[in-house]
Amino acid sequence: MTAEGSRELDDAMLTVMSAGASADVVSDYLIAHSTPADDVLRDLAAETLQRFPDAAGMQVSPDEAALITMLVRLVGARTAVEVGVFTGYSGLCIARALQPGGRLLACDVSEEWTSVARRYWERAGVADRIDLRIGPALDTLRTLAPDPVVDIAFVDADKTGYPLYVQHLYPRMRANGVVLLDNTLRGGHVLEPRSDDDRAIAGLNDALVRDPRWETVLLPLADGLTMLRKR
Ligand SMILES: C[S@@+](CC[C@H](N)C(=O)[O-])C[C@H]1O[C@@H](n2cnc3c(N)ncnc32)[C@H](O)[C@@H]1O
Repeated sequence: MTAEGSRELDDAMLTVMSAGASADVVSDYLIAHSTPADDVLRDLAAETLQRFPDAAGMQVSPDEAALITMLVRLVGARTAVEVGVFTGYSGLCIARALQPGGRLLACDVSEEWTSVARRYWERAGVADRIDLRIGPALDTLRTLAPDPVVDIAFVDADKTGYPLYVQHLYPRMRANGVVLLDNTLRGGHVLEPRSDDDRAIAGLNDALVRDPRWETVLLPLADGLTMLRKR
């Protein structure tokens, strides 16, 4: 594509992203046409919104959750890692899609938020396949043997930490293993970064697409979901 064409694409992207109303309509349509959340997930979302209204927006959207669930199944994952649990919505999706005997290592710093996760994981019958580690995720990842056994990882935590999460996940992913990175559009601010979080993600997006170790796709779902396949 020419530089002119690329500029036009950037302009179009900014227009779509700043057109809040139409983006919401499209987003509602996507959710309405993806496999719906079940009662457990709906109750979890409702309790999260009621108890933590200011933070509830951190939860993955139902369409993104449906995609993550499908990807875990398609990969045939037995070993999964999640960085950023919050109240457990995406963790529940990952855990229930694992192969029999599969395990999810779930990392978060908050006892309060993850206490909600634990309850819903129990209710969904997946608590026994999740190893929740409270503490900085980087410390937890560093404790993992550098064996290439992880089938899928989902990263949805502090944005400035993403480059190091990817770096520490890389040797632990099996060949063809998939790493998913959430919020890689930053509401469109990757085009004009305004914060350290924006700059961290914009820089990582630029680096990943040039990195021969990964095959990379950035999907415009929710706030951007990057899929990395280890070559
Ligand atoms: C966007 S939320 C995760 C949402 C979750 N994936 C979901 O769908 O409900 C980000 C989470 O990352 C956690 N977090 C932030 N910094 C962290 C760190 N350094 N290590 C581990 N977890 C961290 C926060 O406590 C928060 O629960």
